[in-house]
Amino acid sequence: MAANDGRLNGNRAQPPDRSERPHATHAWQPRHTRYAHLTGWGIRLPERIVTNAELEAVVETTDDWIRTRTGIQERRIANDRETVTLMGFEAARAALNRANVLPSAIDLIIVATSTPEDIYPSSASKIQDLLGATQAGAFDLSAACSGFVYGLNMAAQAIRSGSINTALVIGSEVNSRVLDWTDRSTCVLFGDGAGAVLLEGSDQAGGFMDAVLGSDGSGAELLGIPTIGTTNLPEGRQMHKLHMDGREVFRFAVHIITESVRQVLDKAGLSLADVDLIVPHQANQRILSAAARNLNVSEALFYSNVHRYGNTSAASIPIALYEAEREGRLKPNDNVIVVGFGGGLTWAAAALQWQSVQERAPKGLAYRLSQGRRELQYITAFWRARALKTYRRLEAALRGSPAKHANLRESAPAKGKEESARDKR
Ligand code: UT7
Repeated sequence: MAANDGRLNGNRAQPPDRSERPHATHAWQPRHTRYAHLTGWGIRLPERIVTNAELEAVVETTDDWIRTRTGIQERRIANDRETVTLMGFEAARAALNRANVLPSAIDLIIVATSTPEDIYPSSASKIQDLLGATQAGAFDLSAACSGFVYGLNMAAQAIRSGSINTALVIGSEVNSRVLDWTDRSTCVLFGDGAGAVLLEGSDQAGGFMDAVLGSDGSGAELLGIPTIGTTNLPEGRQMHKLHMDGREVFRFAVHIITESVRQVLDKAGLSLADVDLIVPHQANQRILSAAARNLNVSEALFYSNVHRYGNTSAASIPIALYEAEREGRLKPNDNVIVVGFGGGLTWAAAALQWQSVQERAPKGLAYRLSQGRRELQYITAFWRARALKTYRRLEAALRGSPAKHANLRESAPAKGKEESARDKR
């Protein structure tokens, strides 16, 4: 491509004199810094509870081994209808209700997942359609169990820059579909579920403070799910099935929680004494106990619900945030650290101020009215999607090919003629 085709300064021979160029009044300027507040949260869990005792009939294991080595007592397992998209959608609806925000106000939807129905279309796009979030951009984010905190950071930074105002960050997983149910070292550990948070911009200080993100791809083989692009499947691995070197990941997890919590506190200008709750990725109670020991804090500072749900990958932190709030462990203006770690290897920690803006959700008539408007948008979204599909089918049937007059063969010989004329000359 030509560096300067003359259109910019009207003179191809002379490069533009930048010193004399008048200041562009429309030049991009950094906008006034905004704050990203967490204003809504919601979860959706499969109804089916599977206890450790039930797993004794599936693989050679015991309730005692699972409890003492992991702290897990039961997990939720999705049925065929409970997908990443549908659970993510339900969790998002709950978050919008909590924040009293309409789907049409959402600018961005990020879904952290490793178990989507499709590589693309993204689960985020499907959730955007189900919600009727017609103004939103949407994408899935792949960072394994750290994905939710990565997504939170991406969304918060977009809000803080003034680029967007409202974002949904969802973690949703159906791990049960990628488990090898004959491998006792992994199948007893994981569960399914979804959690979502809504972030909104405000001039009021607070909300998302800071984050650290990390990756160490040299540990890629320790934890993963080989998929469609895999050409050389190592022995003992199966396509679309999760594999993990538990001991190595355990060591990495304890170290990286300790390190990344310290780093994010440092970045946010906080000390451990300022922290009201640490909400970590829920993988194993022993990991959390060891990290608490390393940080020299009480284990009670680490929120845990791993006994109820096992490891729900990218969904575990938003589910834990929701439950911590419901149990009264998170109160307005509390300082919270969220910390995720997992496949990649990846890790991410963020410092947040919980619910740092005044609740806007008036209960009573006004709330019921806006709740009605939300329901109306979901119904409209359903019919809108159907109408658009029908329109596309009709348009395709009536118009046929969108480029029926374009004929590559016509232009090819023409070029050929030109070339042969040139050759003759
Ligand atoms: O979200 C991604 C992050 N994932 C994690 O953070 C997981 C990290 N890793 C862990 O949580 C633990 O390493 C595990 C829970 C996976 C395993 O615990 P461990 O204490 O590290 O056990 P191990 O792998 O050292 O295995 C000890 C024994 C082995 O038997 P031998 O070789 O000592 O005879 C295993 O075969 O326990 C055996 N074992 C089991 N026994 C009964 C492994 N799985 C089971 C099982 N039931 N389900």
